[in-house]
Amino acid sequence: MLQSSNEADKTESMTTLAAWTLIQDGAPINLSDTLIRLGLILAIYLVFTLTQRFLIRSQLVQSVGLQLNLLVLVLLVILCLEPLLARMKSQVGSAIMASAAFLGVAIGLKLVDVVLFEWVARWRQRPPVPLVVRDIARWGVGLVALVLIVHVFFPELNLNVLTVSSLVVGYIVGNATQDTLGNLVAGLALNTERPFQIGDWVTVGGHVGMIVDTTWRATRLRTKNEDYIVIPNASIAKESIINYSRPTAKHGCHLSIGVSYDTPPNRARQVILDVLRETPRVCSEPAPVVFLVNYGDFAINFTIKLFIDDYAIIDIVQSDVMDRLWYAFRREGISIPFPVRDMRQRDAMADEEAQRLAERKAIRHLLSGVDMFQSLSLEEMNRLVDEAKFKLFAAGENLCRQGEAGDSFYIISRGRVAVLMSGAGRQPVVVAHTDSGGFFGEMSLLTGEPRSGTVCAETDVEVLCVAKQDFAGLLQANEGLAGKIASVLEERLAERQNLRTAFANQETNPEIRTDLATRIRRFFGLGQA
Ligand code: CMP
Repeated sequence: MLQSSNEADKTESMTTLAAWTLIQDGAPINLSDTLIRLGLILAIYLVFTLTQRFLIRSQLVQSVGLQLNLLVLVLLVILCLEPLLARMKSQVGSAIMASAAFLGVAIGLKLVDVVLFEWVARWRQRPPVPLVVRDIARWGVGLVALVLIVHVFFPELNLNVLTVSSLVVGYIVGNATQDTLGNLVAGLALNTERPFQIGDWVTVGGHVGMIVDTTWRATRLRTKNEDYIVIPNASIAKESIINYSRPTAKHGCHLSIGVSYDTPPNRARQVILDVLRETPRVCSEPAPVVFLVNYGDFAINFTIKLFIDDYAIIDIVQSDVMDRLWYAFRREGISIPFPVRDMRQRDAMADEEAQRLAERKAIRHLLSGVDMFQSLSLEEMNRLVDEAKFKLFAAGENLCRQGEAGDSFYIISRGRVAVLMSGAGRQPVVVAHTDSGGFFGEMSLLTGEPRSGTVCAETDVEVLCVAKQDFAGLLQANEGLAGKIASVLEERLAERQNLRTAFANQETNPEIRTDLATRIRRFFGLGQA
């Protein structure tokens, strides 16, 4: 009796289990056989997972890892539990087959995606297609495939019902995930508008970094400190974006530097430009530019605009330029001032005296190099040294103009000038160049004639300027000086070709010397020698 009641209980529990497992025939399941099969599935699956994890290094296989695992699991279930499945209701079998089919499609789509969008893009050297676009394409095709699979395996299922219920589910999910959808839409907008691409350097929402990727939800930047910043797409859509890599990889940047007031701006500019030309990674095109921005409290301030071809190296290049500027300025005797006024005030007086002495030495050196001053006595020379003044002209400036009255004579201390002459209605022609040690402007000064030509600075020029009154004193004190100067001038004139002044036609006339000396004396109001 006891045994028969136990058997009755066992049969009942088996029947309940059979009903729960959707067994069609209602016959009990052989538990031990089922457990062995499940164990087999687990063992094979574990072997597969371990092999895949540690032995298969292929990136392609790795990219479909999850789907592949699930597919293997489903296939193992189909193969190993086949007798059990055969006894189950047909929907169970269909659901499992449909899952296998869908996983197969998902794997296929992923493989096509990787091959098409990554391998082919790399092979054709095209920028990678953004993740969000690839995902949408894959999900779109996947959805269509899902509907078809459902239709094939569950032909009795009404697709309209399926559509309506998807809409309802979609609405609920949509409301619940409004932010996510916002990010998705913004992600799509970003990919349509394409304000940046992978690899571009940008500033977004105050963050500077290189675009690593854009997913459904967010865009990832890698900063210069090698950190990732993940910014939700919806936030990016609201922010202004600076893209340093578009329209070209070239990026202009600015640097500021000040030089002391005794440095001529053009000289400082030239040194800066030379440094920029030599610094690696500074583009020659567009050429760097140096702007004088203001005369500050204690420095002449410049802004340097230069271009680099990769935003990633901006700090390195800027630092390199500033390093090199320090050394170049030091070599050229240009100082970068600093505001320590009290300390420098005392030194300034001593400096000024030393500077004046050096200046007198330089003036004497320049004057004694001019042939018409060779005959001056020491006293006369000293008087001239006291009066003569240095003047600076920037490249491109005119020091005197053809046709103007001239009351100064110039000796070039540094730089180079061009002498230009123009006839009626003709363009000015360069007739001569003069550089350090050379002189000009003597014609008008000594004879009162208008300037015979225009003298233009080709580089920054420093000249020693001797005025008419300085000469007047000399000529009055030294009776024979006018004659000596006249003879030197004559020799100079004899060397000139194509001279279109009044003297040109008289070069070979011996009377010209007397004439020139007379004109000099007359012009300076001296008695005839
Ligand atoms: P001045 O006529 O006072 O002004 C223009 C100056 O240009 C002139 O003096 C000369 O010193 C200089 N000059 C004119 N013609 C020549 C030339 N052919 N070669 C060199 N210097 C010249």
